[in-house]
Amino acid sequence: MEAKTLLEVKNVTAGYPGHVALKDVNFSVAFREAVAVVGPNGGGKSTLLKVIMGLLEPKEGTVLFCNESLMKNREMRTKIAYLPQQSAINPHFPALIEDIVRLGLYGELGLLKSVTKEHEQRIIEALEKVDMASMIGEPFEHLSGGQKQRVLIARALISNPVLLLLDEPTTGLDLKSQESILQTVKDLSEKEKLTVIAVTHDQVFLKNWAERVIRIEQRLTFDGSSSEYFQRSED
Ligand SMILES: Nc1ncnc2c1ncn2[C@@H]1O[C@H](COP(=O)(O)OP(=O)(O)OP(=O)(O)O)[C@@H](O)[C@H]1O
Ligand SMILES: [Mg+2]
Repeated sequence: MEAKTLLEVKNVTAGYPGHVALKDVNFSVAFREAVAVVGPNGGGKSTLLKVIMGLLEPKEGTVLFCNESLMKNREMRTKIAYLPQQSAINPHFPALIEDIVRLGLYGELGLLKSVTKEHEQRIIEALEKVDMASMIGEPFEHLSGGQKQRVLIARALISNPVLLLLDEPTTGLDLKSQESILQTVKDLSEKEKLTVIAVTHDQVFLKNWAERVIRIEQRLTFDGSSSEYFQRSED
């Protein structure tokens, strides 16, 4: 039986004024797949996530999410959560972890509406999914790099997305934090049934989480299972 398709990237060419970052990229992702995106610096990996998220319009081609174009149906974007490569949150931002997660509700609430009991419950649930609920009440700045990253993932999860896009979630973290992120992402893939696409160069991540690897160097230069990917790179 063929798995149900969640995302289709069709003949996508995209980039910035005077620069083509992606050229004729084609692939599709099924519900619940765990996909790693690899490739050299400047290869177009972050651009690919921006195109999938609907933040950057392709010059040619289309991206279909649940058979719909995100450029046309902006409401669908709430079903996709995105953790950018470098978080915009200052690590010393004076807030408690639950305040950071609450920021994820602003798309839904606007700045003026107050948070209800139901929202508070969703904040707790999002923190539970990344195993950080026991730290409610802690200032964000007291957390380790890995814990901060998990709180930012909780913020991304608050809208109950079906697709999670992570851009180098473990870069710059120590080994212990990298492992905690790996465990969190595995739980999200396996227990929460989320489809996850993560840009990563982390070998442990590739070996222990990714089912499939996509390599982008302007064009799609590899698309296959992670075991095939490792066989090739060992050639
Ligand atoms: N906002 C922008 N304006 C102009 N050019 C950009 C912009 N963002 C990225 N680029 C260029 O597009 C190309 C692809 O960039 P992208 O950030 O997608 O690469 P990447 O694979 O994510 O690299 P890295 O591994 O360094 O994160 C690069 O040549 C980059 O310089
Ligand atoms: Mg990048």
